[in-house]
Amino acid sequence: MSAALPPGPRIVTERLLLRRWTDADRAPFARMNADPAVMEHFPAVLDAAASAALIDRVEAGFERNGFGLWAVERLDSGQFIGFVGLAVPGFTAHFTSPPGSEPGPAVEIGWRLAAEAWGNGFASEAASAVLEYGFGTLGLSEIVSFTARSNVRSQRVMERIGMVRDAAGDFSHPALPGSHPLAPHVLYRARRSPESAVIQR
Ligand SMILES: CC(C)(COP(=O)(O)OP(=O)(O)OC[C@H]1O[C@@H](n2cnc3c(N)ncnc32)[C@H](O)[C@@H]1OP(=O)(O)O)[C@@H](O)C(=O)NCCC(=O)NCCS
Repeated sequence: MSAALPPGPRIVTERLLLRRWTDADRAPFARMNADPAVMEHFPAVLDAAASAALIDRVEAGFERNGFGLWAVERLDSGQFIGFVGLAVPGFTAHFTSPPGSEPGPAVEIGWRLAAEAWGNGFASEAASAVLEYGFGTLGLSEIVSFTARSNVRSQRVMERIGMVRDAAGDFSHPALPGSHPLAPHVLYRARRSPESAVIQR
């Protein structure tokens, strides 16, 4: 591991390291964001500049919030495969203030992996650890997730990690015209269970 790595937080799972971003991630991240298969459920692929700007925004968020979309690396090969992590949605919707809880922004869990890494359970393995981090270490009371209705793969991850569909929570993504095929979104929720221990890392 390079001494130049930025500080934590980091999360280690059975097969993966979730860590802050390095300059070496920029090229493989740009490649995956330019892949139409990876970006099928987004309005457009990202060019290299937009991909780099996303890393910069994520890193600024880590500094500000202490959490973010972690860069995911395979422990066996050290290969960067994408991101899994937490974010504060950059738009307002009915769920962005969690109901019945302390006021404040909702926190979402999200993921994006290079296509060659799909089908191994990596997204679910990382996401389970991120939920545990969010509830245990960060003390969040609720974490939401949402995706285009057409993104069944992503919904399968939400279900695999124990999130529950809030069918009444479906919404039209405010960044897209209502008529856009990707506008209809589904909402999933996970709540901290009473036994979620505060984990010191
Ligand atoms: C969404 C995304 C992360 C899901 O990736 P994934 O690899 O399908 O998800 P998982 O990590 O849960 O892996 C599950 C698959 O691995 C298989 N698998 C193999 N080994 C496994 C293991 N040890 N544990 C669990 N699943 C395993 C499962 O059978 C399943 O395969 P299937 O797709 O054929 O049913 C990926 O499709 C992606 O990056 N998409 C593009 C970006 C995107 O849409 N992001 C979400 C926006 S909201």
